[in-house]
Amino acid sequence: MKGKWAAAALLALAAVNAAQAQTYPSRQVTVIVPFAAGGPADISGRIAADIFQRHLGQQFVVENVGGAGGTTGSLRAARATADGTTLVMGHMGTHGAAPALFKGLKYDPAKSFDPIGLAAGTPIVIVAKKGFPAQDLKGFVEVLKARGPAINQAHAGVGSVSHSTGVLFDALTGAKPTLVVYRGTGPALNDLMADQVDFMTDQIVNVAPQIAGGTIKAYAIATDARDASLPNVPTTKEAGLPEFQASAWNALFAPKDTPKEIVASLSAALDKALDDDVTRKRLLELGSDIPGKERRGGPALNTLVKNEIAKWTPVIKAA
Ligand code: MLT
Repeated sequence: MKGKWAAAALLALAAVNAAQAQTYPSRQVTVIVPFAAGGPADISGRIAADIFQRHLGQQFVVENVGGAGGTTGSLRAARATADGTTLVMGHMGTHGAAPALFKGLKYDPAKSFDPIGLAAGTPIVIVAKKGFPAQDLKGFVEVLKARGPAINQAHAGVGSVSHSTGVLFDALTGAKPTLVVYRGTGPALNDLMADQVDFMTDQIVNVAPQIAGGTIKAYAIATDARDASLPNVPTTKEAGLPEFQASAWNALFAPKDTPKEIVASLSAALDKALDDDVTRKRLLELGSDIPGKERRGGPALNTLVKNEIAKWTPVIKAA
């Protein structure tokens, strides 16, 4: 008899999930961006919210929840009700480097979420205040090494992309700057433009417009090839620091055990949007890499998260 009841209960649950998915989203959805407004996660998060709103026809509202290198907001999402009304825009820091940096991290990037899909790859650029006294990357590193803690390096908290790539950059160059923490690289960029901080390693989507506008300077981009949105910025290889290769990514996650039909409809909407001209133009203008079909969807993101945790753990321990 027990077996029959169990089967009936499972069938009922499946019917409820399927019904939920058919009406999803029936009410406003919150997209948690675990950093301050104006930074790369926020830019990517707002593009994603707009995509879902256009494709799924419901209010998708960004909520900025900063702190602890993005792990505060990510934990909030991991603990949210798994009904599709809360998503999080995670990235290489919160869902890759964080486990190596936070002992006792209260979520597991690979187990506490249902992955929806990769939104954008974001190459890392070495940027400085426009008056920094160096004309190229070699000269920049010489000044960093000569002036040590007199130089201020901005980042968005232990576990953030700007922190993990910044620590890697400092380890490779022997620089020992003073680290200045912000609730996101949006506010950090404001200080860079105001000459209040000297440099940072940040995601291209945040800094491309300011580099193009000449309000900050870029010494190199940490990818194999130059980015079409910044044709005059040399690669680190061209600039004499080939070992500094770093590209981040922003991706969407739902809390674990969100009905799979809901996750599927979010993945499908994201996949469709990454092929539409409006979204592609916007992401490319910001210097993003748009993921190919093989890198999209939940399973590919799940593999990426596991690979990134495995990649960054030894890098951070060594640095
Ligand atoms: C941001 O959105 O502020 C960045 O993603 C922070 C970081 O990870 O460096």
